[in-house]
Amino acid sequence: MADPKKLFIKTYGCQMNVYDSERMAEAMGGAGYETTDSPDDADMILLNTCHIREKAAEKVYSELGRFKGLKAEKPDLKIGVAGCVAQAEGEEIMRRQPLVDLVVGPQAYHRLPEMEEKTRQGAKALDTDFPEEDKFEKLKGRSKAKRAPAAFLTVQEGCDKFCAFCVVPYTRGAEVSRPAERVLSEARELVDRGVREITLLGQNVNAYHGAGENGGTWSLADLIWKLNEIDGLERIRFTTSHPNDMQDDLIAAHGECAKLMPYLHLPVQSGSDKILKRMNRSHTAESYLRLIERIRAARPDLLLSGDFIVGFPEETEEDFQATMDLIREVKYGQAYSFKYSTRPGTPAAERPLVDDAEASDRLQRLQALLSEQQRDVQNGMVGREVSVLLEREGREAGQMVGKSEYLHSVHLQANGHQIGDIVRVKITQSMANSLTGALI
Ligand code: SAH
Ligand code: SF4
Ligand code: F3S
Repeated sequence: MADPKKLFIKTYGCQMNVYDSERMAEAMGGAGYETTDSPDDADMILLNTCHIREKAAEKVYSELGRFKGLKAEKPDLKIGVAGCVAQAEGEEIMRRQPLVDLVVGPQAYHRLPEMEEKTRQGAKALDTDFPEEDKFEKLKGRSKAKRAPAAFLTVQEGCDKFCAFCVVPYTRGAEVSRPAERVLSEARELVDRGVREITLLGQNVNAYHGAGENGGTWSLADLIWKLNEIDGLERIRFTTSHPNDMQDDLIAAHGECAKLMPYLHLPVQSGSDKILKRMNRSHTAESYLRLIERIRAARPDLLLSGDFIVGFPEETEEDFQATMDLIREVKYGQAYSFKYSTRPGTPAAERPLVDDAEASDRLQRLQALLSEQQRDVQNGMVGREVSVLLEREGREAGQMVGKSEYLHSVHLQANGHQIGDIVRVKITQSMANSLTGALI
């Protein structure tokens, strides 16, 4: 048998891209490829890209430029661009960077093996279609190899919300939910391969409405309750959610479903109703706060995470202060915040920008507040008992690192335990970005 060819994949952007990269690697496994950690010995390089902010998109071109030397040395090397930049700028990529052999959009990944074949015959391949067929069914790998204990599983893709700043509805297309039975069977396979924790993914995961048994439609909560029954699966998470899709059954599940972890990523973007309206978010600061109250009533120890954009067109200091007030009221345990980045083709792209220095200053103030909250929440874990899913060896002898229910990284001496075990731990110390604990 011929030596396997080597595939190097570099992944940018959200968890959905991480999941997609794994699927593509498995599909290319069927075409005689195994993955490598180094572009230098690759026969094919694939960049799985993100288009969400300008910087993310530009990174792709500078990264591609760096492969010039490699391609000159190795004319058989194939270079491909996947992901959201591929979807948004497909032909432009081929024009701007002639060393690219292949461009594949997120909805066409199942066609990657035949596209690779085409490039081997010296042609270029581009596919940014949104075909009808279920790409995940076709991307199914046959590998039974053991996996790390925490895995992602995409259940929903695309977005119909059209927030005025966001490219996702254009790069990922309309909302589509995978049928429940396919999700469950993939979950069972993951568990058979050693997975103990599954994070359900979707751009709007709580808008999940998949075909269920007997022709019915399942909500995300229905799906979570069924996953809860799988022996060997110990933890369930989901991300990312939209405030308008937090239905009662999902809120209740946070209080009642034993395997659903007490962590929720619920982006609000801004605390100013004027800005929220202009963002086309269709919720207000007040409705978001009341929603958080209801979720916390169902699960008081829930750790909340959020996303924020500062410097959205026409944001004033007063609007910004409304965001700061909302943050003070919610108290986030984790957060992601960004300076507004103009995305061509989105409604907000036409609007007057906030002064850049002012926007940077707001971002700094916002991040200072969020880090302070994050630190407080983390420090508040000291003395508490948590469960830790052991995910990898630590640097010191006998040390292991894992995640608590609240998604904090925890370091501990775990002699006698293995990766994949869930252990009870008492938190003893809060470090810069992680906790330290001791087995109980
Ligand atoms: N579907 C998810 C997240 C999508 S993108 C949701 O609705 O929450 C992840 C985050 O990137 C967004 O929540 C937003 O905070 C940020 N983002 C998206 N477009 C942006 C832009 N044009 N400029 C700056 N940040 C942006
Ligand atoms: Fe983008 Fe808004 Fe859809 Fe989230 S809900 S993916 S921010 S358009
Ligand atoms: Fe980026 Fe596409 Fe995800 S734009 S954030 S990789 S959906």
